[in-house]
Amino acid sequence: MIFDTTLRDGEQAPGFSLRVDEKLRMARQLEALGVDVIEAGFPIASEADAEAVRLIAGTLERTTVAALARCAAGDIDRAAWALEPAPRRRIHTFIATSDLHLSRKLNMSRDACIDAAVAAVTRARGYTDDVEFSAEDATRSDADFLCRVIEAVIAAGATTINLPDTVGYSTPDEIATFFADVIGRVPNADTAIFSAHCHDDLGLAVANSLAAIGAGVRQIECTINGIGERAGNASLEEVIMATHVRADRLPVTTGIDTRQLYPSSRLLTELTGEAVQANKAVVGRNAFAHEAGIHQDGMLKDRRCYEIMRPEDVGVPRTTLVLGKHSGRHAVAARCEQLGFALDRDGVDRVYRAMVAAADVRKHITDQDLVDIACAVLGVAAPSQPAPHEPVPHESGYGFGV
Ligand code: KIV
Ligand code: ZN
Repeated sequence: MIFDTTLRDGEQAPGFSLRVDEKLRMARQLEALGVDVIEAGFPIASEADAEAVRLIAGTLERTTVAALARCAAGDIDRAAWALEPAPRRRIHTFIATSDLHLSRKLNMSRDACIDAAVAAVTRARGYTDDVEFSAEDATRSDADFLCRVIEAVIAAGATTINLPDTVGYSTPDEIATFFADVIGRVPNADTAIFSAHCHDDLGLAVANSLAAIGAGVRQIECTINGIGERAGNASLEEVIMATHVRADRLPVTTGIDTRQLYPSSRLLTELTGEAVQANKAVVGRNAFAHEAGIHQDGMLKDRRCYEIMRPEDVGVPRTTLVLGKHSGRHAVAARCEQLGFALDRDGVDRVYRAMVAAADVRKHITDQDLVDIACAVLGVAAPSQPAPHEPVPHESGYGFGV
């Protein structure tokens, strides 16, 4: 199960807040993407959050809508109100279980923590039979105490148990052992679905999520573009494509339509105004772009030389061969051909040398730059067909761009 928390954990990060109408647009896209659960917000946190959750709950048809609530009656009641219109609703209640959080943040004893957790789950079950319990800072909690809490909340009716790596402290081998241990020790574990919610403080959120799957976890909590508190959450697109490309190692399936990954990433970027880093896996600008000559040559011969997934499978229109100082003759010849130049070997060589010299000065060579270079070097007029801005796809199917 894919539990998307872009609109809650993601949206609460600095720079990513969205208006109610923007949250609704994103929620519709997430439904088209095929996530199982959309965590739409934290209704007690603000009027706007409550309103957004209620609007999304009344709009989506297939996807379960979840709302976050602390283990407090007021939070649970507010979440239940916001979720009322949803055909499928989940109350997600959480409390910290590590001694550090209990003593320093909540000033609460372990026994009081269990009581609050059980009371919250019981109250939530009065509103819906789909209740998720999260033990905040689970991976830094005392294992014996954590198991006691989990057993108690499952007995009280929790159907999903989420064990967050709240501060992104775990390593993959450690988190696998952690989940296997908890699932093995909690006597009623088989009546709940276990879930991983990994933060990316050490850049390990996706690796940890995948390791958790190997240990029996069947729900991953993640976000589009990996947005979320501090360094973010596990990136949904990376988790999904890892399970697709490496199905041999990760034999699980999801309901995700992978062709909606890039459109989802683009919509989030458009709505938040926060760009995705160019080299971001799966959805970054360079994820399917090649500039190095050896790579372009390999790509033009067989794309599998340098791509382990097809851009169209994640909704990226096409592979891009970028002309720059690292490019080679093969790519220059292919692009010149697209632009209407018929070059012999010597012509390719001369245009290539001039292009590399120009690329030493400017960062990228555009189609117009290449036309100008080719015309100057060959002493010919620009071909009238095809126009540089209407390139005929090369037989490789790749686009050229900057
Ligand atoms: O990181 C975390 O612990 C959370 C919980 C509220 C699920 O976001
Ligand atoms: Zn979180």
